[in-house]
Amino acid sequence: MTTHSEVAAVHVAEGDRLHSEYEVPFSVRQLTPSIGAEIGDLDLREPLDEPTYLALRRALVQHKVLFFRDQDITPAQHVQLARRFGELEVHPVFPQHPNHPELVMLERTKDTKATENVFHTDVSWRAIPSMGSILRCVECPPVGGDTIWVNMAAAYASLPDHMKALLEGLYGVHDIMPGFGGRMTQQERDENRNRFPPVSHPVVRTHPESGEKILYVNSAFTTHIANFGATHKVRFGFDFLVEGMNVLQYLFLQAAAPEFQVRLKWEPNTIAFWDNRSTQHYAIQDYFPAVRRMMRATIIGDKPF
Ligand code: SIN
Repeated sequence: MTTHSEVAAVHVAEGDRLHSEYEVPFSVRQLTPSIGAEIGDLDLREPLDEPTYLALRRALVQHKVLFFRDQDITPAQHVQLARRFGELEVHPVFPQHPNHPELVMLERTKDTKATENVFHTDVSWRAIPSMGSILRCVECPPVGGDTIWVNMAAAYASLPDHMKALLEGLYGVHDIMPGFGGRMTQQERDENRNRFPPVSHPVVRTHPESGEKILYVNSAFTTHIANFGATHKVRFGFDFLVEGMNVLQYLFLQAAAPEFQVRLKWEPNTIAFWDNRSTQHYAIQDYFPAVRRMMRATIIGDKPF
């Protein structure tokens, strides 16, 4: 088993490479003071050479979500790009590309209304959740269908000190079922319950590359705080349930602050690459019944600490 200190050591080594002198071989236009940058002068059809990979990884950690326009890449090039940043997951519920199971097909029509209109970080219900996701727009609705990303390190940093103190040592429980159980039969729910039992992650995680502290609970998958009662003075058993849920609701609300957000208007062949460790996102469902077709590759990360 890999320990946290081993994971940290790997990231320090990676960090040394990331922070060594380098030339940025593309343009970077920052989009808000808090989050998001548009990357230009880069052709994502080509495999990334080492300096470009390192510079992109550094830009991702810094800006948290990167946007690329006019990237007419094939599904195989999409997979190749994502693999440069790590191993890819195969999603247990979303439909897959017929030749590339690592690509999720998010195809929305009058028959398949989207449900990603909730602030979330991808697959936080996994024991080893995602490092990042790369999403390409294949077809846009005539108007609408924007996506919002939130800087959850900024959300944490802005919390009052008493709340930061309250959160120390707390673990959130993340579960696949609230978000995906409704799409499964009872038999599938039973099978997936065994494959994906609820997992606990720190409510405040540390970014393995930047060292930033990040608020890591989300309203799609975090069901409760595992140890609220153990670390706080309670009068009655119901205190830790009710107070814990109130604290969680308060934390969920932080993602809704526009000060921490950036909003993307998609065009066909726009790509967004976001850091799932330090962000949440919300896909606005204001275009139904128009068509919106996207493909996503999701890069596996490491155990939150
Ligand atoms: C997602 O939640 O990963 C999809 C975001 C989107 O469709 O804009």
